[in-house]
Amino acid sequence: MNEKIVNLLAQMTIEEKIGQLIQVTGDFFQDGRSEITGPLGQNNQLSDELKYTIGSVLGTSGADDVSEIQKNYLARSRLKIPLLFMADIIHGYKTIFPIPLGLAATFDPEMMRTAAQVSAAEAAAGGVKVTFAPMTDLVRDPRWGRVMESTGEDPHLNAVMAAAAVKGFQGELPIDATHIAATVKHFAGYGAPEGGREYNTVDISEWRFRDQYLGAYQAAIAAQAKLVMTSFNTLFGVPATGNHYLMQTILRGELKFNGVLISDWNAIAELLAHGTAQDIESAAKKALAAGVDIDMMAFAYAGLLAKVDQLSDDILALIDLAVQRVLNLKDELGLFDDPYIGISKEKEGEPSITFAHEQQALKAAEASVVLVKNAKRTLPIQATQRVFLTGPTANTGDLLGSWSWQGDVSQTETLCHQLNRHVDYLSYLPGVAYHEDISTDWAAIKQHVASADVVVVALGLPSSESGEATSLSNPALPSQQVAFLKKIQALGKPIVTVVVTGRPLILSTVAQLSDALLISFFPGTKGAEALTNILLGKTEPTGRLPMTCPQNVGQIPLYYNDYNTGRPNQTTDGSGENRYMSKYLDVSNAPLFPFGFGLGYADIAIKQAKLVQTTFSVDDDIAVEVTLSNDAEIAGTTVLQCYTHQQVGETVRPRKELKWFKRLEVDAKQQRQVTICVPVNTLTNVHSDLTTHVDPGTYDIMVGLDSEHLHRLTCEIQPGKEHSDADN
Ligand code: BGC
Repeated sequence: MNEKIVNLLAQMTIEEKIGQLIQVTGDFFQDGRSEITGPLGQNNQLSDELKYTIGSVLGTSGADDVSEIQKNYLARSRLKIPLLFMADIIHGYKTIFPIPLGLAATFDPEMMRTAAQVSAAEAAAGGVKVTFAPMTDLVRDPRWGRVMESTGEDPHLNAVMAAAAVKGFQGELPIDATHIAATVKHFAGYGAPEGGREYNTVDISEWRFRDQYLGAYQAAIAAQAKLVMTSFNTLFGVPATGNHYLMQTILRGELKFNGVLISDWNAIAELLAHGTAQDIESAAKKALAAGVDIDMMAFAYAGLLAKVDQLSDDILALIDLAVQRVLNLKDELGLFDDPYIGISKEKEGEPSITFAHEQQALKAAEASVVLVKNAKRTLPIQATQRVFLTGPTANTGDLLGSWSWQGDVSQTETLCHQLNRHVDYLSYLPGVAYHEDISTDWAAIKQHVASADVVVVALGLPSSESGEATSLSNPALPSQQVAFLKKIQALGKPIVTVVVTGRPLILSTVAQLSDALLISFFPGTKGAEALTNILLGKTEPTGRLPMTCPQNVGQIPLYYNDYNTGRPNQTTDGSGENRYMSKYLDVSNAPLFPFGFGLGYADIAIKQAKLVQTTFSVDDDIAVEVTLSNDAEIAGTTVLQCYTHQQVGETVRPRKELKWFKRLEVDAKQQRQVTICVPVNTLTNVHSDLTTHVDPGTYDIMVGLDSEHLHRLTCEIQPGKEHSDADN
């Protein structure tokens, strides 16, 4: 702890200390101007004594508002400790990038880093110093609406993307005026609620938690994220926010996290509803003991103020520790030297800066769109073709997705507007709304279809139907949209369907009815332009699915990296003699579209894949030489992927695990050699005693352009020193 903080702490009263641990919305300082994301159990009145000791504010941004609150606060606060402003800057502040699931679909960590860095620069100018991102929760259930904020079902992709986001938000340390501190959330397991129902029980064994879930949080913490947020859910039977083992043993002990741990919204008070605390006072004490430094909007720590004389030495010591961490963060962010650091009204809205940021957002949006079907090369559309455009996402700016902060839907360009600028002939009729058939004049629609060469049907869900508290029991397009598509398809013209969504949807019928199908995870400010460029072949779709698309709702959770079972299903459908296998009678185990899948406009394939050597020791890298070919007349981009599988382990192993991926361009009519490199020390697995090792033995090394179609090679890992004793 530095001297400044030691001195400050020595001057603080217990009331001032507890104040630093309380976070409220900006509403408490300035009515009605902040973003409210959770239940408001309290009316927004605070006594002046408490108000001017409070440590941080959430949900307020904007150079003017932040400066005004800070100025008034400092004028009234005894020790002049600046307020710290935090907000959910998830995929952009003013310039909105694709939602995190879309950024994951780019399979490009550099893109994620750029998105975070641009978001940080804009938010910092608007006075925000901490973002509640990245969300690094592993998600395998598209019924959970918050999947939009995740990077999907794979531990490796999650880990790489989480680390990239932290680096983008924070920049080089110490964090400068144009960057902001990152918060890894939600620790831990928030992405696995039972049945996909928001805020529901999470029950993952500790073995599985360590094997699959912990890695991404760990990667983000290793990238030096300054904060961690607790999750709402229980883990190992205890709500995370009061879970001493999770926070003290795993987070602070094993992961060596020594930054600020903040509760999620009202999560300390929710220990009462969970039934693991008798009253608000014991909830506060449990959270403090677990190491939670900041109480977001629960007033549980504030409740301790009524009994300051009765607080034990242990509790007082915990409070001191929490205050130190909060003050440390303020110091690291430069707030003691300049409470207004980074705030810039000019930079907040400067057009040339915004233009540059939008170009980055365009690139990201283009790289995030996934083409999953392209029969008869329906795409790209020629600008000379006559296009009829219809559907609920055709003429709306609702392309930003949840958490789009200062992004303005009313100012966001629509697909209709963009397409109209670039094709010779476009006609448009809405046809169907999100949940309602509005094709009252069917004769007119028929006429438009008849005079078109191709029909673009833009379907999807509004952004209000993904994000927090938007679980769906059936993640599919509303029946009205599917019925409308069926009617259009019956008219016999080539159909290009675009689906704008915050989550993987069940698209079995939609895929059958469409000649070409594009999935766009809310693409952001430049989404319409990106989709237009892709539809017209100005750029190729290069996104790959960061989550499996199931055939039907009953298959959920369906993910590519499931564990071996004793009765693996070999048949490709539910029927057949092989009845006593792990399968359904009414649907195969196969996904509609697998993880890692996506098509482009070129014709890229793997010609050959070979291991440079077949025996390795623990310190080696496994090198695979791959030859890619492109038979098309145009250059193209693909995502080369490498998966591994440990043939025999003490515990069961996933059938495949992504360990390496890279976006690669291949020139027209050319071949390209690439060397994949998988460090042997990444082949770890968790044993039944919860220790993590790389085991010696035989491993499959699988190379492909998605998770299903793979070239399989095998290699041997020789025992390392730590194994020779244990194994004998
Ligand atoms: C969410 C968090 C978010 C917080 C503050 C909560 O409801 O779960 O992810 O950071 O609100 O807005």
